[in-house]
Amino acid sequence: MERIRSGIPGLDKLLKGGIPKNQIILLTGTSGTGKTIFCSQYLWTGAKKWKEPGVYLSFEEPAEKIKESAKNFGWDFNKLEKKGMISFMRYDPYRIEDVIDILESTVREINAKRVAIDSISALGLYVKDRAELRRLIFDLSFLLRRLGCTTILVSEIVPGSKGLSRYGVEEFVADSVIVLYYERLESQFIRAIQIWKLRGSSHSQKIHPYRIGRAGITVLPEEEAFIQK
Ligand SMILES: Nc1ncnc2c1ncn2[C@@H]1O[C@H](COP(=O)(O)OP(=O)(O)OP(=O)(O)O)[C@@H](O)[C@H]1O
Ligand SMILES: [Mg+2]
Repeated sequence: MERIRSGIPGLDKLLKGGIPKNQIILLTGTSGTGKTIFCSQYLWTGAKKWKEPGVYLSFEEPAEKIKESAKNFGWDFNKLEKKGMISFMRYDPYRIEDVIDILESTVREINAKRVAIDSISALGLYVKDRAELRRLIFDLSFLLRRLGCTTILVSEIVPGSKGLSRYGVEEFVADSVIVLYYERLESQFIRAIQIWKLRGSSHSQKIHPYRIGRAGITVLPEEEAFIQK
């Protein structure tokens, strides 16, 4: 199986070498776990270090805000955008039915290999009909597989809920699932990451700590995290 490097230090070790190429990876976790930072780091590192163009499709924060917070980690997206290595797609709630076509032309335009969709939960705010939303998620994943992209699909978990995703379909269209936790351990909160499933490959079965620091997310693959759920 071909793999691509995630760009997140320590993570590829849990994935036994990297993210399986051409897969849809569901990245899920409660608010503030670092899902947006993960997407930025995945795209920025891919474009900057390995010359793999990327598309950021945001249904949540405006592109300017994402770029501004990325600067805190030393990731200057404007430069890469000028070089045609990164494209931020702005959502348009009134043209949500066109999102598939716009995504396809954006991916083709810069020959994108990496895509981040942040987030499916926010997309649900614009598509009220549940069946319609499911079809849209299916169509999005079908398109991205056909285009040969490796995609991070973000979905938010509501605190206290038992499921892995907001609408209960995301984990079925996804080949693989990564879960981010922010949980209390005695008097403090800790961050932890788990590979829930990885299609076609073995992976770490453990829960590992990760940090968000000056250079973004770093996973500690040799350490184990203990969380109380
Ligand atoms: N420069 C930084 N250094 C360390 N930690 C940071 C820094 N910037 C942000 N963080 C941490 O990252 C968290 C936000 O990360 P991010 O926006 O990626 O979360 P998210 O999972 O996308 O949240 P949401 O579901 O609300 O969109 C903050 O709550 C903060 O704890
Ligand atoms: Mg976010």
